Amino acid sequence: MSDPQTYPPSDEFVARAQVKGMAAYRELYDRAKQDPQNFWGDLARKSLSWFEPFDKTLEWNPPTAKWFVNGKTNACFNCVDRHLAGSRRTKPAILWEGEPGDARVITYEELHRLVARFANILKQLGYKTGDRAILYMPMVPELPVAMLACARLGIIHSVVFAGFSAEALKARIQDLAAELVITADGGWRRGKEVRLKTAVDEALEDCPGVRNVIVHRRTASDIPMKNGRDRWWHELDQQLAATAGESANNCDAAALDSDHPLYVLYTSGTTGKPKGILHTTAGYLLQASASMTWVFDLREDDIYWCTADIGWVTGHSYIVYGPLAAGATAVMYEGAPDYPAFDRFWQIVEKLKVSIFYTSPTAIRALIRQGEKWPDAHNLSSLRLLGSVGEPINPAAWEWYHRVIGKARCPIVDTWWQTETGAIMISPMPGAMPLKPGSASLPLPGVIPDVVDTRGEPVRNNREGYLIIREPWPSMVRTIWGDPKRFEEQYWSRVPGAYFTGDAARRDEDGYFWVLGRVDDVMNVSGHRLSTMEIESALVHHHAVAEAAVVGKPHEITGQAVCAFVTLKKGNWDHTALGQELRQWVAHEIGPFARPEDIRFTDALPKTRSGKIMRRLLREIVTSNAVTGDVTTLEDLTVVTALSSHHEED
Ligand code: WT7
Repeated sequence: MSDPQTYPPSDEFVARAQVKGMAAYRELYDRAKQDPQNFWGDLARKSLSWFEPFDKTLEWNPPTAKWFVNGKTNACFNCVDRHLAGSRRTKPAILWEGEPGDARVITYEELHRLVARFANILKQLGYKTGDRAILYMPMVPELPVAMLACARLGIIHSVVFAGFSAEALKARIQDLAAELVITADGGWRRGKEVRLKTAVDEALEDCPGVRNVIVHRRTASDIPMKNGRDRWWHELDQQLAATAGESANNCDAAALDSDHPLYVLYTSGTTGKPKGILHTTAGYLLQASASMTWVFDLREDDIYWCTADIGWVTGHSYIVYGPLAAGATAVMYEGAPDYPAFDRFWQIVEKLKVSIFYTSPTAIRALIRQGEKWPDAHNLSSLRLLGSVGEPINPAAWEWYHRVIGKARCPIVDTWWQTETGAIMISPMPGAMPLKPGSASLPLPGVIPDVVDTRGEPVRNNREGYLIIREPWPSMVRTIWGDPKRFEEQYWSRVPGAYFTGDAARRDEDGYFWVLGRVDDVMNVSGHRLSTMEIESALVHHHAVAEAAVVGKPHEITGQAVCAFVTLKKGNWDHTALGQELRQWVAHEIGPFARPEDIRFTDALPKTRSGKIMRRLLREIVTSNAVTGDVTTLEDLTVVTALSSHHEED
């Protein structure tokens, strides 16, 4: 079943690569596998700066891992301060492009100044180690500055993607019991303002624990400021200058435990309630930065661009912490890929001479549809390496990306990982292994994945099974915020002693992993992770809805699209109008990106005798418009026939 076409790395690429050829990969991988403690320990001593050394690499009492025990370090120090000593001082850390066409260049020196000042502001407001801050920001440099300032003081940050609604924001503020919100008046997306402060005000009606809202001015739109609670960032900065003078630019980085919480990032799980994934300091930073070399083959002169939003884990690890810890120059773009036109990505690549470009299959597919004339109008010769993340990349999109963007010159790293893994786990090392379009290829050093059956036994080559990870790794999720029981149940008890990813995969005869998609009630829409249950809870919240069942249906561009089956309470409903209203309702409850594409009204949902909705049947209906599998447990067979024919679509 191996793919007919494989792509070995070119001699030219290998010649300059940091890991050259399969033998080098094998040596590294085997060394890590045989002696993980020394492998990670040596790497941590070499690649991070420590205030106090650790005396033990790992304490593992499943599911609790303590990495680099008794070590003291600081993520912000590692991302900023340690680069100031040499030539990186004046190197750009962030090359920022605003959607309207404005731009900023922030050197490491300038980044240090901005971060230290903002950390001093947080201190003056009385925030300290262990406090929690919600960051609800557009893609502007102030977002990484705020993250790093929190990390500098040991304040736990939680970035909420700016596409989330006020309702979703509120749920996260409450779950985290946050005392501080950092936001902006708004941000730019497709030429329109996304109003953020308005959503914050709405969310905070039920969040008495939030003492302050710090507002960065981005769009200069008119927004209300609540006395005593809301403060403009620039005004706080002016006050700081007045009171602290020159010392405003200096702020010591706190010496924090290796496992001091760095951030919580909420992600969708199999229930209606999002999970607060906790990442800690040293292990997370170590693996995020090590993968910059292993996967992106990062060199001092690279211009690296990850197009993700910092509101998702990809942006945390591969716009902020990974690249900055590695001393890279990272591009950051505020807006949409198709604004003002479909060549925005390629215009930026050409302008900034991007050499490493990391994006999602959904973005690639959307651009394929617009034709080659958009990339062809630009000089893309600066590119040397391409990356993909978020879902399996279909071979057709891979080939296009390789040929049209990479001019058949640039390797593509298809990187498999999750919010929970913190860093890339399975991916080609581009100078080492042949690429197979559609496969994330082989595990990185220290990662021991397997494909197993329901009893946890490894399945044979090319058979489908559950993807698990057998050994702990430094950047692994430490717990679900406030819910250690759910953490243990979800990840560490399905296959005893191993981490359950929730993905299905197969491994081929060369050991390459082919990730097939989720095995749980999690959907992947445009690389965004959505929970069927979360959308169902939103729908049943609406006064007209009796029951709802949500499944992902295959979609050419977004991978999956949200399809909702809805039964209504008694009444005379206008299905077309109500369909629109429910879509809007979900956008209001969760965010526009969760809006169902397809709403199907039905008289009943297929259920088992015990009353569970049979989503499998619904998935079959939306995939093939037919039901083939076993339906013997179905409560009422007639509903299936009714469901396959009747629906309401855009
Ligand atoms: C899920 C994790 C990790 C960053 C973005 C998403 C799917 C992610 C790949 C890939 C096949 C992939 C998996 C995974 N996924 N990358 N290269 N090939 N599937 O993070 O929101 O936590 O979603 O995304 O299903 O479990 P996330």
